[in-house]
Amino acid sequence: LRVVRDRRALAQALAELRAAGNGIGLVPTMGYLHAGHGALLARAAEDGLLPVLSIFVNPLQFGAGEDFARYPRDEAGDLAAAERFGAVLAYLPDGDDLVPERPEVVIRAPALMRRLDARARPGHFEGVAAVVVRLWGIVRPDAAYFGEKDAQQLAVVRRLARDLAVGVRVVGVPTVRDADGLALSSRNAYLSPGERRQALALRAALAVGEGRIAAGERRPAAVAEAMRRHLAQAPGVTPEYAEAVGPDRLDRPRRILGRTLLAVAARVGTARLIDNVRLWVPLDGPATPLVDDPPGEAGRRAQVARRRLEAVLAERAPQAGVAWRRAVCDALRGAAALDGPTVRAVLAQVVGRGPLGTVRIGGRDLDELAAVVWDAMRSASAISKEPSRKLGEIPKGVPRPQD
Ligand code: PAF
Repeated sequence: LRVVRDRRALAQALAELRAAGNGIGLVPTMGYLHAGHGALLARAAEDGLLPVLSIFVNPLQFGAGEDFARYPRDEAGDLAAAERFGAVLAYLPDGDDLVPERPEVVIRAPALMRRLDARARPGHFEGVAAVVVRLWGIVRPDAAYFGEKDAQQLAVVRRLARDLAVGVRVVGVPTVRDADGLALSSRNAYLSPGERRQALALRAALAVGEGRIAAGERRPAAVAEAMRRHLAQAPGVTPEYAEAVGPDRLDRPRRILGRTLLAVAARVGTARLIDNVRLWVPLDGPATPLVDDPPGEAGRRAQVARRRLEAVLAERAPQAGVAWRRAVCDALRGAAALDGPTVRAVLAQVVGRGPLGTVRIGGRDLDELAAVVWDAMRSASAISKEPSRKLGEIPKGVPRPQD
């Protein structure tokens, strides 16, 4: 593991790695590394990239009265862990090397940054965006890896990468949990042994939500309320929110279908904890875990499949704007199983109320997939012989076709 502390040394080290023909997988962290960070680094290696890590407790993302000063720090432990987890290069910026001055430019994604955690932490995601975009600019990685545990952060950085066309692939990596189900987090260090037991209520609340969906409940408000009630009854736990939303736009759908994020936040002792589960909810049958970014070759195939699907839609529905095509492709991303009726229903939902979010397409032949999706779209009347009339039904906020 090579350790660098300023941008010149970082640029030099990256140039050497690239000269040897390697791609770079960046894992931005705030240190106090645990197995969740290990999974991000391992995933970069699995994708054929050299795992490069940054460790920086970013003051821009902490509000007044938050835990910046006491955020756990352990440089020696982190470097040992980074080496163990297979990182080849670690950037630990000295002093103001990464953020020399308070940025004048503020990056805002208003809809994404005012929901869920942003209500309790105004300005947090602007601070995250400022430092992530800076790191992307300095490191220029091929891909950047973020944990699904920070679901809103993941949604924000995905959108940043897309809107700013930074040329970085954002990869979400599943949450790593302790054997008893507690999601790993550097902030778990704040918990006493008793509070740690109480903190299991977050995962239990999510299980309640999953149970309601398994029992056939499809109203987001009812699922959210069941999770909130569970948190409220748990000893030592002060609930902050419980939600059932789409994982990309983070808004409540009319009905739970396809890509779904159950998310909770609560205070336990002095720690503010968050947790979530990501599900693919088919029209019929049990929900399955949502796998947005399958590792290695499967991930590459899924990516190719999405591009192909977009191309097919562009060819067969040229009237539809690119944002609409993206919404369709996104809404169908990550499903463990893709069945015709569900595809039809999801597409109908996209047309009926705007983008849902994104889906994966396990193992299908790409041509067959494109045909299945297109057939499903036709039979759902999402786009047929009268695309402009149908597209006229797209609600506000989703681009109209170019007539
Ligand atoms: O997830 C984190 O640790 C931080 O929010 C990040 C992405 C490193 C930005 O400071």
